[in-house]
Amino acid sequence: MIVPYLVAEPAGALIDGRQLKFLYLEIQEGYVTRTASDRREEEDKVKVLAFNSSPHMEKGGTSLVLTPFLEGMEEAGAEVELFYLHKLNIKPCLGCFHCWLKTPGECVQRDDMEVILPRFAASDIAVFATPVFVDGMTATMKMLIERLIPLMLPLFAIRDGHCRHPQREGIKPGKLALVSVCGFTELDNFNPLISHMEAICKNLGVEFAGALLRPYAAALPRLGRSGIPVEEVLEAAGSAGRQLVREGKIEGETLEAVSREFLPRETYVRAVNQYFNRKLRELEQGPD
Ligand SMILES: Cc1cc2nc3c(=O)[nH]c(=O)nc-3n(C[C@H](O)[C@H](O)[C@H](O)COP(=O)(O)O)c2cc1C
Repeated sequence: MIVPYLVAEPAGALIDGRQLKFLYLEIQEGYVTRTASDRREEEDKVKVLAFNSSPHMEKGGTSLVLTPFLEGMEEAGAEVELFYLHKLNIKPCLGCFHCWLKTPGECVQRDDMEVILPRFAASDIAVFATPVFVDGMTATMKMLIERLIPLMLPLFAIRDGHCRHPQREGIKPGKLALVSVCGFTELDNFNPLISHMEAICKNLGVEFAGALLRPYAAALPRLGRSGIPVEEVLEAAGSAGRQLVREGKIEGETLEAVSREFLPRETYVRAVNQYFNRKLRELEQGPD
């Protein structure tokens, strides 16, 4: 939702959306918008650019962990901008390599990546937030990452003993943090995603700053109502954000607190099956 007193500025200028603690941005016809009253002293702040690729956006389990993480970053003095990928128009990469040869640094496609690319290049910390979909990131998140290649040069270089593309000049080296949630109970559900993100960071030449991982995230509100101290997960996510901005890294203990186990796997599986069996029975019976 865009609030009425917004000023619109051309893509590439700073903008903002609604009254969250951090800036939530929308793009409409190549324009981003922000409240005139909300201009900040941006220059010397750590710039954080966050993407949430959950189709459930602010109502999903991903947002449950991402929101306190971003709020923690802002409390520590960062300027935070958030985009929901499901609200953006990002087309798949055409693989034409024009961004490397004919139009260096620029994609031939006219879509919301025109707004995202300069922001990504100027950010100190990027946050990629995705639910686990079939053992990896969502397709929308992968599509965004593939469209980052205009930031790289076509040339090959040996970096840390490996063949890579150097970044274009003017791109901040930056850090990248992952936020992910999944439906199953084991932490190893995140392993393929973490390996992938680590490889992506090496590929893009950015530092992997760590991962906030939350199994059975969707159940947290319900567990909270039954007296389980799930607020500790959200507090830990906030601490992780503050640590990353203030100290440049997240403590292992903090990440463990985000992922902590609350109940035996068997108990959780039983509860999930009870829920789905009840829902299926209700559907079979139809409306009263
Ligand atoms: C298409 C699809 C694939 C999924 N694949 C996995 C999976 O491989 N492993 C897992 O633990 N959860 C899987 N999930 C469950 C989601 O990760 C889980 O529901 C998560 O909480 C969704 O986050 P959100 O509410 O932010 O969208 C999948 C969900 C969907 C819709």
